[in-house]
Amino acid sequence: MPNSELQKLWTDPLHPEADALDLSAKSVWTSTSRADRQFPVFQGLPWLFPEPTRALVEWRDRALQLLQFLESEVADLKSQISESSSATTRKRLTEIRRLKILHLEYVRRTLEPLKVQDRKRLIPGPEFYRLPLRQGLLGYAPNAVRDWSPSLFPGENERLLELISQQMLPEFSGKFRIAVLGCGAGRLAYDLAQLGHRVVGLDLNPLLLFAAQEFAFGGAARTSADFPVQALDPDRPGREVKLGGFPAASHDHLSFAFGDVYQLPLVTSSFDIVITPWLIDILPRRFSELVAEIARVLRPDGAWINAGSWRFDFRSESENLSLAEAEESAATFFRSLRTQRASTPYLHSPIDAHRREEILTCFTWQRNSSPPPTERPLADDRIEWIRDPQLSIPALPVFAAASATHLAMSELLREVDGRRSITDLAARLKERHGISDAEALIAVSAFFDRFMLDRRFRDFA
Ligand SMILES: C[S@@+](CC[C@H](N)C(=O)[O-])C[C@H]1O[C@@H](n2cnc3c(N)ncnc32)[C@H](O)[C@@H]1O
Repeated sequence: MPNSELQKLWTDPLHPEADALDLSAKSVWTSTSRADRQFPVFQGLPWLFPEPTRALVEWRDRALQLLQFLESEVADLKSQISESSSATTRKRLTEIRRLKILHLEYVRRTLEPLKVQDRKRLIPGPEFYRLPLRQGLLGYAPNAVRDWSPSLFPGENERLLELISQQMLPEFSGKFRIAVLGCGAGRLAYDLAQLGHRVVGLDLNPLLLFAAQEFAFGGAARTSADFPVQALDPDRPGREVKLGGFPAASHDHLSFAFGDVYQLPLVTSSFDIVITPWLIDILPRRFSELVAEIARVLRPDGAWINAGSWRFDFRSESENLSLAEAEESAATFFRSLRTQRASTPYLHSPIDAHRREEILTCFTWQRNSSPPPTERPLADDRIEWIRDPQLSIPALPVFAAASATHLAMSELLREVDGRRSITDLAARLKERHGISDAEALIAVSAFFDRFMLDRRFRDFA
């Protein structure tokens, strides 16, 4: 299919000048209720979130916070260097600071198309969509290094491509229309396009997808930094890396778009193959919702190919499906063609003592001829009584427990005036809650100890 046709699947007709927040791109939604929805385009990438303005407000907020956080880290390191009396420590901190600056500059430049500071005309509509809470901008930053500095993680991209190619055979041995969901920094989508397939890569993370757009289409090499989980040598707390400098993919074969897998901005029955690389077990909603969306966009007999870890992490064990249960829950739309468990190195860096070798679960499921689902998962995935403000809030035991703790916490924090001691605060607590001196002292000390301890570790992603 020529690029123009492929583009029509989701961007017809994009206005080339719609680069700022000009919601003039015509809708690509197939459901009629969304037929008039319009989307902005950033750096050639259509922003196809279910609620584009809300997603933009959130990503800009997160991007701004991230940049401020990275800047404060660099500033903090400067004072740590000047305060340190050890030459060895100063040397290590100086190297970390140098690498952090490179990384900050890489992040800042990559996020530039988002126009992070621009808050004009951003009034979210009445519909509700929120970004997944656990998907921070930096979460998979090392994946971009693996994708576009392959000599630093030798063989890892090749291994994934090899496994996907094995999963395609023998039924899918030609050239196909492929959607790569959760494509991250885009290397697999790029490799498949270089093999002659027509590929759309979809993700929701701007730090990764802008990198995909830049490096897949010939962007010159840029400097960043890569930090090991556990430095093998304390004198090498990180390494300078170069991303990019690859031959440009053809726009006829490859495109990327922002979007959410639960509300795919793709036309029904339009793809031969959907690939989910390292994706399905990190998603926050019921597996069946993903199944329905993938079934919708695949043509009859098309294939869903998966390769990734199988580590669902829901609180409710019943949602942590085994492969057999997953097959069962998808049986309305898919039959399993083959399954393979294969090992691969994962972000093996020579400067990292933390080495992960992972067994991937790969499967190929073929779409049957049952009609595509007409219902799509809701963009608004909040609990029903939050979605409908008229409903009664259930009296969950967890509310009572949290209310007691939060009350005590805020009481204590309000008492801090720069003069009072733990003993003073314990006396007040004792007065108010009728507990013993000893209990009050233990409670207040434990609270502040915990509070300060929590702040010793990084918690930003
Ligand atoms: C574990 S990473 C894998 C990335 C890439 N496939 C790779 O192998 O490097 C998961 C990816 O899924 C993306 N993702 C998470 N939730 C998503 C959602 N609801 N819709 C689209 N992409 C999502 C993340 O941004 C991230 O790039």
